[in-house]
Amino acid sequence: MGKKLYIETLGCAMNVRDSEHIIAELTQKEDFSLTDRLEEADLILINTCSVREKPVHKLFSEIGYFNKKKKEGAKIGVCGCTASHLGEEIIKKAPYVSFVLGARNVSKITEVIKKPKAVEVDIDYDESTYAFSDFRSSPYKAFVNISIGCDKKCTFCIVPNTRGEEISIPPELIVQEARKAAKNGAKEVFLLGQNVNNYGRRFSDKERNIDFTDLLKMVSEIEEVKRIRFTSPHPLHMDDRFLEEFANNPKICKSMHMPLQSGSTRILRAMKRGYTKEWFLDRAMKLREMVPDVHISTDIIVGFPGESDEDFVDTIDVVQKVGFEQIFSFKYSPRPLTPAKDYPNQVDDAVASKRLSYLQDLHLSMLDTISQKELGKVYEVYFEELKPGGYVAGRSSNNWIIKVKGSEELLGKFVNVKITKTGRLSLEGEVLA
Ligand code: SAH
Ligand code: F3S
Repeated sequence: MGKKLYIETLGCAMNVRDSEHIIAELTQKEDFSLTDRLEEADLILINTCSVREKPVHKLFSEIGYFNKKKKEGAKIGVCGCTASHLGEEIIKKAPYVSFVLGARNVSKITEVIKKPKAVEVDIDYDESTYAFSDFRSSPYKAFVNISIGCDKKCTFCIVPNTRGEEISIPPELIVQEARKAAKNGAKEVFLLGQNVNNYGRRFSDKERNIDFTDLLKMVSEIEEVKRIRFTSPHPLHMDDRFLEEFANNPKICKSMHMPLQSGSTRILRAMKRGYTKEWFLDRAMKLREMVPDVHISTDIIVGFPGESDEDFVDTIDVVQKVGFEQIFSFKYSPRPLTPAKDYPNQVDDAVASKRLSYLQDLHLSMLDTISQKELGKVYEVYFEELKPGGYVAGRSSNNWIIKVKGSEELLGKFVNVKITKTGRLSLEGEVLA
C-alpha cells in the first residue's frame, strides 16, 4: 500500500512550483500519492511564505492543528521561506515537526523524509541544474523556473535571505522543460523568478551571454508554446529592448507586472529599488503607448519607515497616472534580517492602515471605470477551468479572467469571446461562432 501526502502551499508562484517539484519527487521516486484529507496523510507538508509577519505567526497554530488531527505515526514537515529563516527554531518550538526544508533545498525532499529531525536550510545550495521529476497542477499551463534566488537587496525584503543569491537556470534546460510541457498540452508557459528580467547575470555551470529578452525569443520559437507569461520583472531592468520584445512578440501575453512599491523617489531610495518615480512613469507610459490594451499590475507597500503624507501622495499620483488594472497592496511589515526593520522612523500602525484603506478604496473606484471600457470588446480566451453554475473560465492575453456559459469541451482551447458583462476583477462574455 502506498503512502499519502497532504501539502498546503502559501505565498507566491515560486512556492506553487516548489510544491509541484516536491509532489513530483515524492510520487515518482517514493511511494506517495496526493490526498486532500489531512486525517489520512502519512506525510503532511506546509510550504511557507515569510514575506510578511502574519503568515509566520499563523504557522505555529497551523502545524499545531496538523499535529492534533494527524493519524498515528504521520510526519509533519515545514518547507519554504519560513523554514529557511527559522531553521532549527521550528523544531525547538514544535518538537513534533519531523523536518525543516528551506526554499533553496527542495531537491533534498526525498532525503529529509528519511532523516529524523533533518534541518536543510542552506541558502547557498545550488539546485539550478537539478533534474526534478515532473508534476503539473494544471494540464493547460506550465510554470517553468528560470532562476533561483534574488541578487537585489530591497531593504524591506527577506527573500534574498531565504532564497539566497541569484543563479540563472541554463537556457537549454528551460527550453527543454517548456517544450515538454507544451507537447503535453500546456500551451501557456509561465516563466518564474524573483527578478526575471535580470536573467543571465550568473550561471553556475559556465559563462554565457544571454539576457531575459533573448530567453523570451528562444521560448517563443517553440512551436507548441502559444502563450508566454512571466513573473516578476523589476521596473529598473525594463529597458527599451525588453519593452520592444514584449510589445512585438505575439506569443508574449500583454500583461505586465510592474512592482512599484512606492511612488516617492525618496522612499524608493530608502528601499534601494534603484529607480525613481519619473523612471517608473516613463516605463509605464511607454508601455501603454506601445501596447494599447496592456494590463499593468503592481505591488505597493504603504507605511514604509519614513513615509510622510507627501510621499504617500506621490504613490497615489502614480496610481492615478498609470491606472493599474490590478494592485496588490500591503502594509509594511518589519522582517528579520532586513535593514528597514532597524530604521528609526517607523510609521504608526494606524496611519499605515488609513493609507492602505485609502489606496484600496481609490483603486476599487478606478476599477469600475477601467472594467466598464471592456464591454463589447472581443478577446481570444484560453480556457482552463470549470466554474460552478455551468461556466468555464479562462484568460485573455492581457490577463482578464473571462467566463462564459459552457463545459469541458472548451478547456485547453483558444476561443473568441465578446464581453457582455463587466465586474471589477472578471468579465463575462459569449463565445463567438
Ligand atoms: N520579486 C518578488 C517579490 C517578492 S515579495 C516576486 O517575484 O514576487 C512580493 C511582494 O511583497 C513585494 O513586491 C512587496 O510589495 C511585498 N513585500 C515584500 N516584503 C514586504 C514587507 N516587509 N512588508 C510588506 N510587504 C512586503
Ligand atoms: Fe525582494 Fe526586491 Fe528581490 S522585493 S525578491 S529583494 S527584487
